[in-house]
Amino acid sequence: MIKVMPIFGTRPEAIKLAPVIRELNKNNDFETAVCVTAQHREMLDQVLDIFKIKPDYDLDIMKPGQNLSEVTSRVISGLQEVFEQSKPDIILVQGDTTTVFAASLAAFYNNIKVGHVEAGLRTNDKKNPFPEEINRRLTSVLADIHFCPTEKSKQSLEVEGYKHNIYVTGNTVIDALFWALEIIEQNKNEEILKIKSWLDKKIGDNEIILITAHRRESFGEPFENICNAMKEIAIKYKNIHLVYPVHLNPNVRKPVYEILQSQENIHLIEPLSYLPFVWLMNRSYLILTDSGGVQEEAPSLGKPVLVMRETTERPEGVEKGTSVLVGRHKDVIIKTVSDFIENKEYYKNTSKISNPYGDGKASEKIVNNLHSYFNKVVNE
Ligand code: UD1
Ligand code: UDP
Repeated sequence: MIKVMPIFGTRPEAIKLAPVIRELNKNNDFETAVCVTAQHREMLDQVLDIFKIKPDYDLDIMKPGQNLSEVTSRVISGLQEVFEQSKPDIILVQGDTTTVFAASLAAFYNNIKVGHVEAGLRTNDKKNPFPEEINRRLTSVLADIHFCPTEKSKQSLEVEGYKHNIYVTGNTVIDALFWALEIIEQNKNEEILKIKSWLDKKIGDNEIILITAHRRESFGEPFENICNAMKEIAIKYKNIHLVYPVHLNPNVRKPVYEILQSQENIHLIEPLSYLPFVWLMNRSYLILTDSGGVQEEAPSLGKPVLVMRETTERPEGVEKGTSVLVGRHKDVIIKTVSDFIENKEYYKNTSKISNPYGDGKASEKIVNNLHSYFNKVVNE
């Protein structure tokens, strides 16, 4: 029996590891013990609830306004005890958060193997995104097995000299999205009914632009530019409604509420749980985001995405045309939104482009590759 410990801390890691945990649970050769660091608390719990994941270990590290050093040290020291007790053969981490890097380092210190899901994403710009680009690079150094979402991410690892145990699997976020769509179809979800009736009252049949933004490197002036662009779009297109589930980070909430609160067709709401958020993406006309996961999900729903960042480690969408990199420049954001609103042909063509990030089978491939990896290790 191979003991696997998925470790995660934030909303996107939970969403992207949920289908991998489901797949591991189907396979009798694996014993799974789930550990959450709870780098996020409320936003993590929303996901655990939907996918019915009950962690075996919960480090509960989140503090309001936490800094990166605190997160790193709390994860490393918290995991020491968990590893001593549970003794996993391998941990699985996902993506580029501080939980990912710190958990990988703690595993290495304890001679435990590391599997990295969503490996090989790079901007090659140390401070963009901050600190995620460095978190990913450090995690690659520590990882024993790399699950890359695309050929491009595999090539990035090869360029850096990695040669062994690199697999292209697709991104597990598409598996999670399909799973969420299935749940939405099967059940009448209370939260979806609630947001639907709220939208019917406030917005009726008018179009929606969905917004999410939270990146650390945008705090300060770039974030204010983003908010001012939203405000001008709302003034220019009075019949279009901008809906923004605002991330719980206080550095995000302050400028967002200060600049956007008073605009009638801008609706600032609390972070949505995953099912209503997927439903809302589907109901939207256009999505403006700096989120990694949202860039990957939106093409499966036929929604064009404006990426409000200077660089992206997800160039596949930009190259294929599912997303447009608009930076944090007010005028570029407004011009691109206007193009999508006014040029219906451009909108239609963009929404038809297929998703470059996966086909919904990534978790199955990851678990199969993990299985062959351990067979190989045992036979060597
Ligand atoms: C983190 C990740 C980022 C990821 C993002 C996903 C790092 C350094 N950053 O950024 O890569 O894209 O999550 O959303 O790993 N908070 C709450 N409740 C929550 C979550 C956050 O109150 O459920 C507040 C707290 O005040 C917390 C702060 O937000 O201290 C920042 O959380 P943190 O995880 O450090 O950074 P994020 O900006 O969420
Ligand atoms: N998401 C959600 N509720 C929200 C906003 C986003 O469930 O209110 C989901 C979204 O569908 C995606 C993930 O959260 O799967 C992205 O998380 P986030 O933007 O926080 O992090 P990133 O992907 O940028 O690391």
